[in-house]
Amino acid sequence: MTSGGDSPGMNAAIRSVVRACAYYRVSCVGIYRGYEGLIEGDFIELTARSVNNIINKGGTILKSARSTEFRTKEGRAKAFEKLKEEEIEALVVIGGDGSFTGAVVFNQEYNFPVIGIPGTIDNDIFGTSHTLGYDTALNTAVEAIDKIRDTASSHNRLFFVEVMGRDAGFIALNAGVGAGAEEILIPEEDLGLDRMLESLKKSRRTGKSSSIVVVAEGDKSGRNVYELAQYVEENLPEYDVRVSVLGHMQRGGAPSCFDRVLASRLGVKSVELLLDGKTNLMVGLKDNEVISTSIADAIKGGHVIDQELLRVSDIMTT
Ligand code: F6P
Repeated sequence: MTSGGDSPGMNAAIRSVVRACAYYRVSCVGIYRGYEGLIEGDFIELTARSVNNIINKGGTILKSARSTEFRTKEGRAKAFEKLKEEEIEALVVIGGDGSFTGAVVFNQEYNFPVIGIPGTIDNDIFGTSHTLGYDTALNTAVEAIDKIRDTASSHNRLFFVEVMGRDAGFIALNAGVGAGAEEILIPEEDLGLDRMLESLKKSRRTGKSSSIVVVAEGDKSGRNVYELAQYVEENLPEYDVRVSVLGHMQRGGAPSCFDRVLASRLGVKSVELLLDGKTNLMVGLKDNEVISTSIADAIKGGHVIDQELLRVSDIMTT
């Protein structure tokens, strides 16, 4: 099943799980709409041919949802009944931390084998350097910011560009560095608004006529992107300021080659772990090796922002 926010590469992961099952002669059932579909028994038999021509597609053919019913004991009891009826013996959940939390609780209650594949553009899961869809979302954000830069530079403007990432600053920091942003505001490093003003003043003094400030949606400055823009307008009237919120465009589109390959590797590993009798693990990537981590650790682990990249970003804004 795919669960939570969709991300590019989920289809490639579905394809990989289904084909690995076919390879090992295990029957495979797709569950529509995540835990919602599980509770309702909304299932479909999947064969190797069911997943033709989806490796390049964004979104998820199994659809996705954030289920409130599965958070209740009754909801999970219904889900277990449906799995028994269908003679399903193990679950592969492709999703983010909310989906994994559900999987852990379900495993504790029913001792049901589960393996998680991290699928979210936010990259906020411990136990993998990359979640599925993160690389694609970064490329989408960079492409969008490149376009905004054309207008920023033609009109000598300052743009505040908000990117997604929930409470994590991975998209903001990496897309910001990749797109050459003058300032990057992320939740993990609240440097204060004075620093931003100083940096913008310095940009002007050193001859920059346009600027891009990338703001993570979870930024902790206490002001949203529109309030930030207003704050700068009030304090630096020489700036002509605009705001652009990239929003859900970052979640759609064809997955990058990186996400397709990652999805293929993680899908195969998830099936092999289950066949090996393993459960409660999340598959992930570390130093380009496919590894597994306990799902509980993956949720609890927290996300660590790359200090070296922060330093590089600081130097680049000189
Ligand atoms: O987790 C993926 C994500 O796109 C976040 O970056 C964002 O905060 C959230 O989902 C948006 O959720 P929804 O699509 O439900 O509005």
